[in-house]
Amino acid sequence: MDKLIIEGGVRLKGEVTISGAKNAVLPILAATLLTDDACIIKGVPDLRDTNTMLKILKSLGKNVEFDNGVAIISQAKNTSHIADYKLVSTMRASFCVLGPLLGKLKKAKVSLPGGCIIGVRPVDLHIKGLRALNAEINIESGYVVATASKLKGAEVYLGGVYGSSVLATDNVMMAACLAQGKTIIESAACEPEVFDLAEFLIKMGAKIKGHGTPTIEIEGVKQLHGAQHKIIPDRIEAGTFILASLLTGGDITIKNIFPRHLGAMIDKLQEAGVDIKSTDNTMRVALKGKLKPVNISTLPYPGFPTDMQAQIMSLMAITPGISVITEKIYPDRFMHVAELNRMGAHIQREGPYAIVSGVKELSGAPVMASDLRASASLVLAGLVAGGKTSISRIYHLERGYEFMEDKLRVLGAKIWREKE
Ligand code: UD1
Repeated sequence: MDKLIIEGGVRLKGEVTISGAKNAVLPILAATLLTDDACIIKGVPDLRDTNTMLKILKSLGKNVEFDNGVAIISQAKNTSHIADYKLVSTMRASFCVLGPLLGKLKKAKVSLPGGCIIGVRPVDLHIKGLRALNAEINIESGYVVATASKLKGAEVYLGGVYGSSVLATDNVMMAACLAQGKTIIESAACEPEVFDLAEFLIKMGAKIKGHGTPTIEIEGVKQLHGAQHKIIPDRIEAGTFILASLLTGGDITIKNIFPRHLGAMIDKLQEAGVDIKSTDNTMRVALKGKLKPVNISTLPYPGFPTDMQAQIMSLMAITPGISVITEKIYPDRFMHVAELNRMGAHIQREGPYAIVSGVKELSGAPVMASDLRASASLVLAGLVAGGKTSISRIYHLERGYEFMEDKLRVLGAKIWREKE
């Protein structure tokens, strides 16, 4: 196993290009199960999670070619309706093959993904939505077994205790594309990645309206065909590089970024005193003056993303004053707090709140990555900490950041890998 070593204190400067969005590419790859035709997906990031999804597609009967950011998915043999535990258990997002398999084959057997370090992560909303479309769903030996003689369009409310669900919206929307009649999803997730999936489905021949809003209307069609699509830029990777610039007092120009997808974060940074210059697809981030602490609550899109909570905590950790960060999507997503404190941060967790008392500086330390975004927060902290930080279990980082170390090195960071 590798660990990442960072020698902090370098001001990052230069240009970085953001990769395609992990959370868009995973359901879009799953959506190719809705057709036997070939699909061409561009801007596919070379991530551990992408490769897991490609393996799942292969196991379900697809032929996969993936080179230089382009994935060509075609039919190799009849689609299997069984997604095995061994693959699904390695990545929660693989559960989004359930909707397309059910839509295409009218039957699916997909392993329950289980919880993970950031929380329990139930799938009740996925099941509720698909049942509304006339599917019979049972849980058998750790698998969700779904069958439907005919999928029928219906009105379904997908709001949960913590708001809307991204992957449940994806699953129900994909199944509804091949249902008979009209489906209306209320309290649908509005995330840009859900929008991107809907755009791909429309290119495949689906009839979808209202995506990007809480009410999505899908008029079922008989079949879908192959399509080409380019994945949107990863807003979470982009947000992480924005913070890398601010934390190190650097000057980074970010390319292939959609600033409109980062509205809540930009608003918070402006409140903190940051001057951001952007066009439709570039942004220059350079800190002038001092930062002020800000209070942040995570919320479903367009609110502040839970996937940026850990990283903004690293910034607040060295911003003088007190900021309160409230996690409203995954109340237990705070594994990074103890690790940041090992680097000299003063963060106190009280239930879903983290009270951050900004310190003057962090100091390098051996720390452990616990999940994808927590790993990113430790990398950010390592970039600004005095001395050496070594981060173990960095396979978490590889799940969602393409060429992170290479991109940081080009910006001047002293970062390298060593064997544990
Ligand atoms: C997606 C993202 C993940 C992000 C999360 C929240 C992908 C591949 N992953 O995950 O990076 O952190 O959205 O923005 O897109 N919930 C239920 N019942 C359900 C489903 C979810 O109660 O059936 C709860 C969850 O436990 C959580 C909240 O709803 O508290 C939001 O989760 P959800 O949007 O479903 O997350 P994912 O789609 O799994």
